Amino acid sequence: MCGIVGAIAQRDVSPVLLEGLKRLEYRGYDSAGLAVVDHNKQLQRIRVLGKVNELQEQHQSSPLQGGTGIAHTRWATHGKPSLDNAHPHICRNQVALVHNGIIENHEQLRAQQVDAGYDFSSETDTEVVVNAVYEALQTTKELLQAVFRTIEQLEGAYALGVINKDEPERLIAARKGSPLVIGVGIGEYFIASDVFALLPVTQQFIFLEEGDVADIKRDKLTIYDSNQQIVERPINVSELSSDVADKAGYRHYMLKEIFSQPNAIAESLENRIEDGRVVTSEFGQNAESIFQQVKSVKIVACGTSYHAGLIAAHWLEEIAQIPCQVEIASEYRYRKSVVVDNTLFVSISQSGETADTLAALQLAKKSGFLNTLAICNVAESSLTREAELVFLTHAGPEIGVASTKAFTTQLVGLFLLVIAIAKQNGLDSKQEAMFVKQLESLPGRVNQLLQYKDDIENIAKDFSDKHHALFLGRGSFLPVAMEGALKLKEISYIHAEAYAAGELKHGPLALVDDDMPVVAVAPNNNLLEKLKSNLQEVQARGGKLYLFADKTSEVESTDGVYVLKINALYDFMAPILYTIPLQLLAYYVAVIKGADIDQPRNLAKSVTVE
Ligand code: AGP
Repeated sequence: MCGIVGAIAQRDVSPVLLEGLKRLEYRGYDSAGLAVVDHNKQLQRIRVLGKVNELQEQHQSSPLQGGTGIAHTRWATHGKPSLDNAHPHICRNQVALVHNGIIENHEQLRAQQVDAGYDFSSETDTEVVVNAVYEALQTTKELLQAVFRTIEQLEGAYALGVINKDEPERLIAARKGSPLVIGVGIGEYFIASDVFALLPVTQQFIFLEEGDVADIKRDKLTIYDSNQQIVERPINVSELSSDVADKAGYRHYMLKEIFSQPNAIAESLENRIEDGRVVTSEFGQNAESIFQQVKSVKIVACGTSYHAGLIAAHWLEEIAQIPCQVEIASEYRYRKSVVVDNTLFVSISQSGETADTLAALQLAKKSGFLNTLAICNVAESSLTREAELVFLTHAGPEIGVASTKAFTTQLVGLFLLVIAIAKQNGLDSKQEAMFVKQLESLPGRVNQLLQYKDDIENIAKDFSDKHHALFLGRGSFLPVAMEGALKLKEISYIHAEAYAAGELKHGPLALVDDDMPVVAVAPNNNLLEKLKSNLQEVQARGGKLYLFADKTSEVESTDGVYVLKINALYDFMAPILYTIPLQLLAYYVAVIKGADIDQPRNLAKSVTVE
């Protein structure tokens, strides 16, 4: 989704802006641009339809110099990817502005502005905002008041960075519904969509709250809340180092992130287990008394995070014997639902900024749930600030658009939650210790599975010329299959669907032929024999089968059946373990296809708009 960087400093800010944009690339974008107020108090701008590298090249051939500037990567929502639609947008060579979010009443504002004589050079919803600032400036004569007047007219979501050529020592930032952080330097300030963009220049950050507007000068920062009252916002010191966004020798961020899972899982377990017991207070100070009252759980999330929720539902019902419903956030937020007494609402999100998940949580807070919990990878995200209870997965920054370590660490957090709730529902300390042991075994077992990478790279060759693939699983392995299919489609652009294996004969079997590879996860559990019969149905129709099975599963490779026997003994950790080969499969297929793995087309890392 769109990325914003801005800076005000004594030095020339263009290199900071370009580096910041580079570090926001992972969010997904189609065009990029940068504007500064130069030393002659004029606005200068460059934009490209394409990658930040091209913007850097353009900047090298005709550098822009100035101490105040804004920059942007655009992920098209209103208007196609094009140079004219790229940000920053400028009104009458006076005001330049970058925006992330969606202005819902842009059509109405556009009509008013056309009547007032404004020309439009883009199809974006953003251009009305820069025009509105310009218009207000004609009366207010200064940028802060002009921005206040503008945001009063806006409906929808925005993070904004605004500069005015006549106030070269001022940068205004505003946020509502879209993330924006201020970086505090020594005698200089920065703004960005997230902290990674600014790590090379500062470790100190202020997270703007909903409705905040920041008036930023080189030596003075004033923040106003939504009532236009001056407020103090705390400075947070980040422990992240600027090289967290490096690939550490891996070809892609996704591969680095897949291989960092043993460590990410270990980090997510640290301090959460003590003497064989789950530390319930890691979910919040009063988590224990809340969990004592839980009679059911509602999980809401999107994409991969939704799949994590689906797996957790199996755990909750089996281990804690608590009913659990899982729902896609964009569906939940627009339907009338019934809240059962004493239901805990759980939202799951890697980024903590997913618009639908956030809106679902906001709705849940008004709907009579026992309490709300966010399982999230980003401290100080909108979701963690909104939820009453919070569990932070400590996966570390995930840059690749395809979620990998965020997923497995969400599952770790969810398993801890299941145990914490189950303890209030009769789970004894012996059983708890056994589950904790399973959790503690995870980093080592995931590490073992990563060693199958060469075998999986080999299988990947068979998929690279295919247009479709089926993924099968049963029970808690159906969501694993769904996640495998999502990974394959999002980074290799192969159409992939997941089915409960028992559903095959109710429709999808009609699709199976020798051009349709079928992937199945086959743990050695009580459903293995049933799964084997489902697989025979595929084999009989000439479909080529790829089976990820446990060493003890007693299934062998034969004609048309490739079995990769992995060391993934069946226990509650198995869904996490079987995810690893599926991540590697998607990755290597995408490598062979030469796809843009870390930034797949049309996708964004952090989906901050509906
Ligand atoms: C997964 O690979 C995707 N990038 C996507 O489905 C993602 O999980 C979804 O957009 C939700 O994001 P969140 O976890 O940041 O809320």
